[in-house]
Amino acid sequence: MAKTAVTGAAGFLGSNLVDFLVSRRETVVGLDNLSTGRLENLRSVWHRRGFTFQRTDLARASTLPRAEKYYHLASPASPPAYQRDPISTLLVNSTGTHRVLEAARRADARVLIASTSEVYGDATVHPQSERYWGNVNPIGIRSCYDEGKRFSEALGFAYRRSYGLDVRIARIFNTYGPRMDPADGRVISNFVVQGLRGEPLTIYGDGTQTRSFCYVSDLVGGLRRLMAAPKEVPTPMNLGNPAEVAIRRVAELVAQTLRIPLRLDYRPLPEDDPKQRCPDIERARQHLGWAPTVRLEAGLPRTVASLRAGLSAEPRTRPRRLTRLKRSES
Ligand SMILES: NC(=O)c1ccc[n+]([C@@H]2O[C@H](COP(=O)([O-])OP(=O)(O)OC[C@H]3O[C@@H](n4cnc5c(N)ncnc54)[C@H](O)[C@@H]3O)[C@@H](O)[C@H]2O)c1
Repeated sequence: MAKTAVTGAAGFLGSNLVDFLVSRRETVVGLDNLSTGRLENLRSVWHRRGFTFQRTDLARASTLPRAEKYYHLASPASPPAYQRDPISTLLVNSTGTHRVLEAARRADARVLIASTSEVYGDATVHPQSERYWGNVNPIGIRSCYDEGKRFSEALGFAYRRSYGLDVRIARIFNTYGPRMDPADGRVISNFVVQGLRGEPLTIYGDGTQTRSFCYVSDLVGGLRRLMAAPKEVPTPMNLGNPAEVAIRRVAELVAQTLRIPLRLDYRPLPEDDPKQRCPDIERARQHLGWAPTVRLEAGLPRTVASLRAGLSAEPRTRPRRLTRLKRSES
């Protein structure tokens, strides 16, 4: 039996988490339907003993592998990706979460659900603590994701209350780093890709709206600590970087990192775009002893290198060798 199952293993966060777990000698089974993820992201662990992969659509799979711990990360995460197929987004966060919780209940396992700061919607409270209930438009264009994650959290809590299942919820704030999809439409990847292509960097709104950006290795460390914490650990738990930065400043930093002149193209703000987003991470500091350590200035060069390589490679490549050797359909 695999010790640990990771859903969404071929995605940006999932593959970085798998790398980390395998490097700690955990036996890991990765599950993914490859809708937004890429097998290429698993290249570094593909031949490692202790790693297996199953191509599985969580919204349809009848059974999932038994494991002691389930990290449930499967879900499109960027607005273009989750809006492209809003029904699948809702299903993986409802039916998919249900399948994971059922598998965990049968195996008496521990579950960590990857939720999101989007459950806070266009927050009226800053910074957002876990006690804030959010301000979400239930029928807006982002609702497939926001409400999907809110449902996922509610289902996790129903399993805790009904069966005493050990469910932990991570509310993840914007994360960036190597293996981000160059086409995923998130602010850092957009700026870097535009800069690499010699295009002006697009700012939606006036650029004073703020975000906070957590480097992926910090985030993965937080997920691991949350999973390892005692059962009484409070949940949900915000995981993100509380250093707030205006979007215009991010554009400046990207231009500096790429060593290009700053050229900006201002466009109107999209519907329901939050104006400010910043985690209160007191709970994680106190109960996990966790706080991010990588500054944007340090994380950006590593991200640029990965996006540069991703741009020059064929998009959505599925290396034949990888596919043949380890993929098993279900
Ligand atoms: N990256 C962030 O900044 C961020 C912020 C908040 C929350 N999160 C959450 O973290 C998780 C991972 O995000 P990410 O950035 O790695 O996104 P990603 O799109 O790179 O990875 C998601 C993975 O889930 C897989 N997937 C989607 N639907 C599936 C299904 N029905 N069955 C099986 N696999 C499926 C995709 O193929 C992909 O590999 C998501 O749950 C997301 O909501 C991410």
